[in-house]
Amino acid sequence: MRNIEVCVSPELIHLYDTKGKNVVIVDIFRATSTMMAALANGVESITPIMDLETCRGFASKGYVIAGERNGLAAEGFELGNSPLAYLNQAYAGKKIAMTTTNGTLAIEKTKAEANQVLIGAFVNLKATAKYLIGQPQDILILCAGWKGKFNLEDSLYAGALVSSLHPHFQTECDSAIALKSLYESNSHRLQIFLGQASHAKRLQNHNIESDIDFCLTLDIYQIVGLLCGEVLKGIDPNAQ
Ligand code: MLT
Repeated sequence: MRNIEVCVSPELIHLYDTKGKNVVIVDIFRATSTMMAALANGVESITPIMDLETCRGFASKGYVIAGERNGLAAEGFELGNSPLAYLNQAYAGKKIAMTTTNGTLAIEKTKAEANQVLIGAFVNLKATAKYLIGQPQDILILCAGWKGKFNLEDSLYAGALVSSLHPHFQTECDSAIALKSLYESNSHRLQIFLGQASHAKRLQNHNIESDIDFCLTLDIYQIVGLLCGEVLKGIDPNAQ
């Protein structure tokens, strides 16, 4: 029986074995939600980058650069980290270089040994679950959190994915068990429950409420976000 685990912070990833597993990176507010909106609206690829200066350098190579720190757009970058910027095919056919506070760090910390690295978000929850059920490997869900701390929104998504993959995967992981239960008792009131999240409040202080509503919309996309080499691409799980 395949196994599933949840790591609630990149600071704890050294306690988990990523070798040969399918790793799902989640950063609901907003990195992975934004990445899925971009890929579902025709962006050719997204290159996740750790630091601002390296990302800034991609502009001279013809990339659109997107950068965010502490919830705010990085200075001198064409884009910040709002999923709404990519809607209506606004950047279709473009290559994006992206750096964020936590999401791109989580990808960097797991890509070396994982079998596959996927990005997870509520906007494509069903598609990701369907794809993973069709793969033979064990799964590790990594929550990007906030600067090493546990956060509510990523953890609730982890619970939602564990719940969606039941009974195809078993778990002996207490984080997975706890978060599945947290999700199942709050799935009917996602907006209200996650309105309490510290980063939701941070974004509200920056008058970015509309991004929060978008990031909590369920299953508007039927594609999966997959790391192919060093770039993220959107793939159709039905084609696998
Ligand atoms: C992150 O990487 O922490 C988030 O995506 C931050 C944000 O977009 O507000």
